[in-house]
Amino acid sequence: MEVFENTRLAGMELKNRIIRAATHEGMGGSQGFPREELAKIYERLARGGVGAIITGYAGVQREGRAWPNMPLIDRDEAIPAYQRITAAIKPYGTPLILQLAHGGGMVKPEVTGGPPLAPSRHRYQLTGETAVELTEVQIAEIVESFARGVERAKLAGYDGVEIHAAHGYLLSEFLSPWLNRRTDRWGGSTENRARVLREIAERSRELVGDYPMLVKINGDETQPGGMRVEEAVRVAQLLQQASFDAVEVSCGSDDFFYTVRVPRVPVDAILEMDPRLRRASSLKKRITRFFLPRVIKTYPGLENYNTPAAERIKAAVDIPVIVLGGIRKLSAIREIIERGRADYVSMCRPFIIEPNIVEKMRAGRQEESRCINCGYCLIGVPAAPLRCYFGRLPKSVPESPAGPVEP
Ligand SMILES: Cc1cc2nc3c(=O)[nH]c(=O)nc-3n(C[C@H](O)[C@H](O)[C@H](O)COP(=O)(O)O)c2cc1C
Ligand code: SF4
Repeated sequence: MEVFENTRLAGMELKNRIIRAATHEGMGGSQGFPREELAKIYERLARGGVGAIITGYAGVQREGRAWPNMPLIDRDEAIPAYQRITAAIKPYGTPLILQLAHGGGMVKPEVTGGPPLAPSRHRYQLTGETAVELTEVQIAEIVESFARGVERAKLAGYDGVEIHAAHGYLLSEFLSPWLNRRTDRWGGSTENRARVLREIAERSRELVGDYPMLVKINGDETQPGGMRVEEAVRVAQLLQQASFDAVEVSCGSDDFFYTVRVPRVPVDAILEMDPRLRRASSLKKRITRFFLPRVIKTYPGLENYNTPAAERIKAAVDIPVIVLGGIRKLSAIREIIERGRADYVSMCRPFIIEPNIVEKMRAGRQEESRCINCGYCLIGVPAAPLRCYFGRLPKSVPESPAGPVEP
């Protein structure tokens, strides 16, 4: 395999093996429709030579909205807004894949208007909220909402979808032996914990038939009792059997800086860009500044940190494997692809700072991303549209969440 060759991923035609990973762009209006400017982000990426684009997550249910500016695809009325985006990207011939998600136990009641919902009761360190256990009826509704989201994505003209089952959001909570302690058919064995994904795949196939359906999973959760790579391998096999067309390997649950690695906690960004902390008294800010680096964990291994897990999964499945996490250098991409450790690589932050990074690499103009892994983009996006801050605070910080611009 070579990095810059034409390939087919689940029937989609890609001009190389480098994919833009799902990145929340912060451009959902108050009703959940995506704002039209979102198309500009994808146009820049397509012009910059990327093989395929996985969008930021779109919520399949309002109850699973992770941020106030997260777009939703929970109603047919949203389809025209999504259609306008796909129409703008079609001329470039770059596959556009809509990521579908449910925030599960990690949502905040002030965003959703109700309690966080999860497979089992659990208090999340990221939000400080305790999730309520889902009923059988609610699980069936969630399965239907994902399948309807897949159908709407197809109707809106997306080339495929990716189901988000990583990072501590709802579907990864089901997969996790740490977060899912159910004793019914949705918990216990690996097969039971993966059942929700199998049912989503089955119901989606009824609605859309042969249509590219990718899935993003954790190769590893940090927490004691969390999913380890041995089980992730088994999960990937089950998802292949369930008819998913490709698997993307990430990591982490309820622990953002395990998923999105940073060399140090971005304290300044958290203090100035989190709307609640920005309004805090200077004493509270000083105390928070002291405690944040002591309570929030960061992890070593900033580069290629999911590649060993992806390699294990690749050896056990026949569907294509995509790996991401700290991939920054063309030499590393070549090593992964040419040695067959994964079929594709994806990157998130390198495309925020340089949407045309692939073209620069292909033309031999640049070997490495300029991203410094500061993490400010992650801290900033819940309150403002996605941008690179390059480790510096903006002159003015937006007062309210992006929106409420509706089509
Ligand atoms: C600003 C930002 C937004 C993100 N949004 C999403 C998202 O919508 N869906 C998702 O699966 N992962 C999301 N992620 C995680 C990335 O897809 C990726 O797993 C992680 O950043 C590691 O890759 P990287 O080192 O190339 O940035 C986001 C990360 C960042 C920094
Ligand atoms: S803000 Fe820019 S430099 Fe910092 S992590 Fe995000 S993309 Fe990289």
